[in-house]
Amino acid sequence: MYKGILHTHYLVVILFLFIYVIKTVLLLSNKTDLLAKFSKKIKVPEMIVSFLFLGTGIYLMTQLPFGSKYDYLLWIKLVMVFSSIPIAVIGFKKSNKMLAALSLLLITGSFGLAEVYHKKKGIAKTIETTNPESTDGKSLYLANCGLCHGDDGKLGMSGAKDITASNLDVSGIKEIIMHGKGAMPAAQVNEEQANAISEYVNSQIKGH
Ligand code: HEC
Repeated sequence: MYKGILHTHYLVVILFLFIYVIKTVLLLSNKTDLLAKFSKKIKVPEMIVSFLFLGTGIYLMTQLPFGSKYDYLLWIKLVMVFSSIPIAVIGFKKSNKMLAALSLLLITGSFGLAEVYHKKKGIAKTIETTNPESTDGKSLYLANCGLCHGDDGKLGMSGAKDITASNLDVSGIKEIIMHGKGAMPAAQVNEEQANAISEYVNSQIKGH
């Protein structure tokens, strides 16, 4: 459920941004006739997108993992999103270019901020909760991997892949733990710990 809503949220935010970029460009380039035509055509889809944007956003807000030292990033994001809405409404109503551009900047910025937050939090959590001596696969997995992959391997945060659908074997998993891959950073663990995690992932997470 969480994952589905998160993905829907990303999708509608991108659609929303897309509509707003077009509108802002039309306004900034004085194509007022075209802007009026476009706004009229897009009215219903835009309403649906805005509704989903707010609905999924409010649900995700109730799930926010407050309680880390990076909470301020979440608060800045919320303030940016919520202030951008009235600014956009007024900006387009009064054809005020400054306000329209400002609201687009706020929305885009808050999207970027969310990414920064998840990256920082991922690193912070790794450092805070891993006992450097531990070789317990489960607790190492939860501390180092859970944030992106979830306790069951299916979460898919920050673009992570569903581990339960992975074809990698123990050595392949160890490889990706030690060296990372694409957007997945290498874990800050030693070789013995990487072995313990890959054993745990292979026997307990995959195939469940
Ligand atoms: C910052 C988020 C993040 C963290 C933390 C993270 N992963 Fe990943 N993981 C990803 C992403 C993103 C991918 C997809 C990489 C790609 O294919 O480009 C991925 C892919 C994988 C895959 C490969 C799936 C496949 O078949 O291609 C495995 C296995 C995996 N991660 C296991 C782990 C384990 C074990 C840990 C903990 C040591 C971990 N991950 C920590 C983000 C993360």
